[in-house]
Amino acid sequence: MNKREFLKSAAAVSSFALLPNAAWAFQSGKRLRTAHIGVGNMGGEDLKAISSHKSVDVVALCDVDSINLAKAHKLHPGARVFFDYRTMLDEMGENIDAVIVSTPDHTHAPASLKAMQMNKPVYCQKPLTHYVEESREMMKVAKEKNLVTQMGIQVHSFYDYRLATLLIQSGIIGKVHTVRAWSPKSWGYNGEAPEGEDPVPAQLDWNLWLGTSKERPYKDGYYHPGNWRKLLDYGCGTLGDMGVHIFDTPYNALNLDVPMTVKNECREPNGFGYPENNTVTYEFPGTEYTAKNLKWVWYDGPGMPPEHEDLILPGGKGSASKKQQKDESVKDKISLDAGMAGAGELPDQGAMFIGKKGRLLLPHFMQLPKKIVKGKYVDISKEIAEVSKANNLGEPIRNYESEGPKHYHQFIDACLGKGQTTAPFSYAGRLTETILLGVIAGRFPNQTLHWDAESAKFAENEANQYLGGDYRDF
Ligand SMILES: NC(=O)c1ccc[n+]([C@@H]2O[C@H](COP(=O)([O-])OP(=O)(O)OC[C@H]3O[C@@H](n4cnc5c(N)ncnc54)[C@H](O)[C@@H]3O)[C@@H](O)[C@H]2O)c1
Repeated sequence: MNKREFLKSAAAVSSFALLPNAAWAFQSGKRLRTAHIGVGNMGGEDLKAISSHKSVDVVALCDVDSINLAKAHKLHPGARVFFDYRTMLDEMGENIDAVIVSTPDHTHAPASLKAMQMNKPVYCQKPLTHYVEESREMMKVAKEKNLVTQMGIQVHSFYDYRLATLLIQSGIIGKVHTVRAWSPKSWGYNGEAPEGEDPVPAQLDWNLWLGTSKERPYKDGYYHPGNWRKLLDYGCGTLGDMGVHIFDTPYNALNLDVPMTVKNECREPNGFGYPENNTVTYEFPGTEYTAKNLKWVWYDGPGMPPEHEDLILPGGKGSASKKQQKDESVKDKISLDAGMAGAGELPDQGAMFIGKKGRLLLPHFMQLPKKIVKGKYVDISKEIAEVSKANNLGEPIRNYESEGPKHYHQFIDACLGKGQTTAPFSYAGRLTETILLGVIAGRFPNQTLHWDAESAKFAENEANQYLGGDYRDF
């Protein structure tokens, strides 16, 4: 079955099934039986966070690597184990209440859609999908079936990001006209596909790892684990890795839809790996929180971000004198948090909002946002206290162990009929589409591509071939 046929069949199944939210099935006091697809690395973290909820029973574990599967099974010996998620879902069917997908990106949609077709709520890792068409389909099926869904952007539920969202929406820097966001990470690879093949490790089912992607010989060190991120067929480069997390707060705070144009300044494509450095410029239609249009620039790769006047901090190059800034930072109640190298130095990763009434710096991660006006930090402790109180944010907890599970527990609670998720596929799909448009623009370096959200097509027809891809029967 090719991908279009697969997506069509998913839509067909969903079209007559206007079911109430899956939460109807879980009366209070009932437990949630979870099935986990991909349990190594992040999948292991996901398993830990989900199973830390007091109403969860882990009933099924699936991984194509028997070593990772065995480790997870040791922690949940009562769960059934599988190599193939299709077998797991077919055999366990009614005995699973919710599915967690933590595989490499190219398997997110095939695994999630199969589960969603069976009316299962899904927690899927970020980015939601590998292709734009898949993302649209996931949004559509989730909506038609009214399913509880959540994308794995756990910092979405952390104090500092919720605070920054509310501060921006309260107008703390006025209408925002530009966002600059950056990460020096580099999930790129400038080389040809390797020649020859290596023996597939005994613990790995390579055919199942490839899944719907095209047949390819196994090579040590290129794909499993982790390095698939660098490669066109499986991952989404640095945009799909850090980009999704760092885009999330500005995207949410400014209530953005998908962009109108996108341009990626990067090296020429090599047909195998993603560029090591990307500078992606988006133009978004305006919203109630932005100027008429919003410009958004993303920088990734070694040395990023470059020097730019929007990114000069108090005490940094081209700003007021060091002494003046030092005095200022001593006075400033919102002192520079641990992790920021010092006055004038940008955090390694983060986002800068530039508005009519100043700038707001949001370091990544778990640090307070900081307001800058005319080259000086401004004390916003009063605004922070007010916004925190009015929205019941509680105190900042800078502890990943305790903050981390919140996003997962929100999903479990929503499945059990309590509250709603804050990163459902209706939101995550648009955010992912935005990310993927920047990824596709990397195939056309330095060219501005024009996106029509309604038809889900580029005006530049040659770019449309990258919106989807064929699915292999496996
Ligand atoms: N939210 C976060 O902070 C965060 C952090 C890291 C990774 N991630 C996301 O988690 C996902 C996994 O990343 P990772 O770093 O764990 O990758 P990884 O390659 O290290 O691990 C993937 C795991 O999935 C298994 N797997 C692969 N194909 C499978 C299949 N078809 N069925 C079942 N299991 C399969 C692998 O054997 C391995 O155990 C990615 O989507 C990534 O973007 C999110």
